[in-house]
Order: sequence, then C-alpha cells, then structure tokens
Amino acid sequence: MAAEGWSGRFARRAQARTSPELTAIIAGVPPGVLAMTGGFPNPATFPGEVLDEIVARLVRDDPGVALQYTPCEGLPSVREYLADRQEQLQGRRPERGEIIVTSGGMECIQLMCQALVDPGDAIAVEAPTYLGALLAFAGIEADVHGIATDDDGLRVDLLAEALAAGLRPKFLYVIPEYQNPTGRTLPLARRQELVELCRRHDVLIFEDVAYRELGFDGSALPSLWSLAPDLVVQAGTFSKVFFPGVRLGWATGPAEVLAELAAAKQNTDQCAGGLGQRMVEEYGRAGHFERRLPAARELYASRWRALRTALERHLPPGCSWTEPEGGFLTWVTLPEELDVIALRPAATAAGVAYVPGQPFYSSGEGANEMRLSFSHLAEAELDRAVERLGGVVRAALADPP
Ligand SMILES: Cc1ncc(COP(=O)(O)O)c(C=O)c1O
Repeated sequence: MAAEGWSGRFARRAQARTSPELTAIIAGVPPGVLAMTGGFPNPATFPGEVLDEIVARLVRDDPGVALQYTPCEGLPSVREYLADRQEQLQGRRPERGEIIVTSGGMECIQLMCQALVDPGDAIAVEAPTYLGALLAFAGIEADVHGIATDDDGLRVDLLAEALAAGLRPKFLYVIPEYQNPTGRTLPLARRQELVELCRRHDVLIFEDVAYRELGFDGSALPSLWSLAPDLVVQAGTFSKVFFPGVRLGWATGPAEVLAELAAAKQNTDQCAGGLGQRMVEEYGRAGHFERRLPAARELYASRWRALRTALERHLPPGCSWTEPEGGFLTWVTLPEELDVIALRPAATAAGVAYVPGQPFYSSGEGANEMRLSFSHLAEAELDRAVERLGGVVRAALADPP
C-alpha cells in the first residue's frame, strides 16, 4: 500500500459520482425499520416459475447463443423482438439501426454520457430527477441545469426561457411517466409542446421510460420517441416489469446516435448478458408480459391506495404529496421549517425510513421534501410506517430546533 493510502490517487470525479443516499438505499435498513426507500419492484411480481422452465430450455437447447458473448448491439433475434414490442406498445417500429440492447436503463444513461458529454457540457434535467442519472452526470463532470417541475411534470415554459437565455444542453433528460422521484406524469399537451420546443432549438431529448408500463390502469400516453423519433433517444429497462437481476434494457433513437452508443458499449461491458437477452425474448414471445403485468399493476395500485389513505390519516396539516397514476413513488413536502435530513435519526429511532429530497436536485433545494416508495411494503406496513413518520413530523413541529 502507498504510504498515505491510495485515496490520494482517486480521480477527481470519484468524489462526485457516489451518494450516501444511494448507498443507503441499496444497503437496506436495520431490522425493525419500515423502509419506504428503494424504487425496487415487489418480489411477488418476479416470474420465478416461468423462468425455471425457460432457463432450463435455453441451457439445454441453445447454449451456443445463450451462454456465449453476444454482438455489442445485442442478439439479432432479441433486437427484432424489441422492435416488435416497441411497435406493439408505442405504435412505431424502430428500423434495424435504431435499437440496441443495453445492460439496463442505468447503462444507457452511462452510454449517453460517454457518447455525447465532455466535461463542462450542459445537460438539462427535471428538478428533481433520478438520483442515478444525476450521479452519472456528475461523474462525467457535466454542467447540470435543473428545470423546475409542477404537478404536470417539467415546466416546458421554463425550459423555453432557459433556451431563449442561451442554454445549449447536449441533451434534455426527462422521465415522462410516474417520474422518479415525484411520481408525476407529463400530459399529452406538454409532450407536444416539449417536442416542438426542442425541435426549434435542436435539443436532443433523452427520454427514460423506466416505469412507463406500470400505469395503474394499464394506459399510456404517446412516448416522446413515438412523437419525434428523429429527436429522441429512449432508454427502457426490464428491471421494473421483469426483474432487476437480469440487468437488461434497450435504447431506441436516431441511428446515428445509436451507433455511437453501441461504440461506447465496447468500452463498458461489450455486450449485455446473452442468457438474460434470450430469457426476455422467450418470455416476451410467449406472451408472459401481457399475461402477468395486469396483476403487477393492480398490486402497485393497491399499495398506492393504502399509502395515500395512510398519508391522509397520519400526516399533520401543512404536508402535501403527489398523486401518481402509476409506478412506485410519491413525493412528500413537509412544512417549510422542517429539514428531512435532520429528522432522519428520529425517523430511524421511530422505525421508518424515507429518502431525503435534496440529492434529487442538482442545486441543493428540497430540504423539506422526501421520496416515499410504496412498491415494497405490505398495506398494513405502509399504514404503520406513515403513522411513525407522522409522529416524527408532529414532534419536530412541536419542538423546532
Ligand atoms: C428513472 C429510472 N431510470 C433508470 C433506472 C435504472 O434501471 P436499471 O435497473 O435498468 O439500470 C431506474 C431505477 O430505479 C429509474 O428509476
């Protein structure tokens, strides 16, 4: 070991690309604490019994493909399946060069950074936005511009102002459905305005559709990519509708950009795992997504109803929350004088965990905001968790620091 340890040799960006919040989410919580932290799918939705048969068959009949390296862009049959699926779900079929397989949505964010962003380049994001993306953008030393959101998601009028004032982002990163962290959805009229605005200013849109298929009622607005395929790169993931252990997703968009993402993938993992690719293809071609997704949507919808009832019952006046129509997440705003990071020791002692809002902003707002996930806990646990949270909030209001 070096005399002073190795940390003096770590890259400058090593400091920017990790977050204690993300580490805490992934590490889990102490026993007895009810966690409304991770945007993890509920294990009850994992298709274990079907996968048993699919994996056994692939290993037996197709080891030369399923257990081998694959082309960087993904297996041809899997790309064909993904193109069929885009056509079925989004009404437009990507051409061959317009879709690649990725190792999940997070890898697609990394590929966009590798392919498009130099240190100091501007990226526009919703404020607040997905913590993983913010860390990736910090890791590439981008200049991140948060555009405020309201109950209908991104304020397109404010983006227009920023562009008029000279903002020239490499791309705009946006999560139009059941956004992480707020649970909000961009309505159709705003989607159209956004696309028109970005077209006028030559802004590439980077659309993340991680939760798109998890609308509580199964409906979905037109994706940004389907509205403007020449202007939008879409990142999708099978983590929320299949299982995250498969680490599989896709990128769809203009062929010129997709070729560059595929080239960047040579520098990450070279290819997504062949076994996972073939599993998704077999599972999807057999119609299991259509068969199983309605039950998953109903599970998350019923958990949200339970959480909403609990919020109404247990949080004191002055607190508010978003009303998601799908996905796993809601965003709670406490009275302004409270600081949710400062409240965390009391929350842990009371046996409840949430994710503080501040890390989801690029510029330090959100001290009195928090993200709650309803995907994991049972309905009675959600009630108990919010009862505990309500107690902590009331105590803090009664005894300000
Ligand atoms: C908005 C959003 N994008 C991307 C991801 C990453 O997904 P994946 O597991 O496919 O890397 C997540 C995971 O929580 C997410 O919430």
